[in-house]
Amino acid sequence: MDKERKLIIAGNWKMNKTVAEGLDLVAGIKRELNSVKEVDIVVCPPFTALSEVSKAILDSNIRLGAQNMSEQNVGAFTGEICAGMLKEFSVRYVILGHSERRQYQRESDELINKKVLAAHAASIKPILCIGETLAERESGAMQNVLLTQVRGCVASLTREQMEETIIAYEPVWAIGTGKTATSQQAQEAHAYIRSLIAKFFDDATARRVRIQYGGSVKASNARELMGQPDVDGALVGGASLEERGFADIVKNSI
Ligand code: PGA
Repeated sequence: MDKERKLIIAGNWKMNKTVAEGLDLVAGIKRELNSVKEVDIVVCPPFTALSEVSKAILDSNIRLGAQNMSEQNVGAFTGEICAGMLKEFSVRYVILGHSERRQYQRESDELINKKVLAAHAASIKPILCIGETLAERESGAMQNVLLTQVRGCVASLTREQMEETIIAYEPVWAIGTGKTATSQQAQEAHAYIRSLIAKFFDDATARRVRIQYGGSVKASNARELMGQPDVDGALVGGASLEERGFADIVKNSI
């Protein structure tokens, strides 16, 4: 597939996998995908497995991501993990503003924006998640929701930081439900998100930003989704928990 932006496919393991299970999974992914150069491949294990998985993927084409981090750098914030701690394990990416955190931890666009800035300050690339609920889509509020989320979460980023930010469009109604957005729905939303980046930054920046689709991505729908002009990769939950499923998504996307 001929795209000016390199595809990036990330596995979001969520609250799954012990250290031993995580090591098994990355060993399998390494075996399956060791010759792939066309796609940036990222795994995002839980914090507890970062250290061991980091060692296991040294000298491979797999990069490490975390699933969250604090907007603070150090101090009395019980239970939190900061960017500097992630850097110890060579974490290159961090998922921020996932809809599950927006829902269960009540994360706001303002807080997510602080996290995005803190990630950039530590040279960790944010995977910034946005997306509408089913009620918002059905009431015709989708564009407004995406506009508010993008504007709030990328506020005060420089152009360079924006280019290094990956946006994950994840319609909430498609996450873990088996209901994937159609490729047309995904393309439409991605093109709209790119137009917002052009509006807030400029056309050249918008052309460089990678926008992943997330929500029930699997081997059988990856090719069609990745074939859309503005879809530059995937953020994969359920199907990333099993080596074959994840590897087939990557292979089918090339
Ligand atoms: P899913 O999750 O692939 O299981 O729908 C995607 C995500 O939440 O990132």
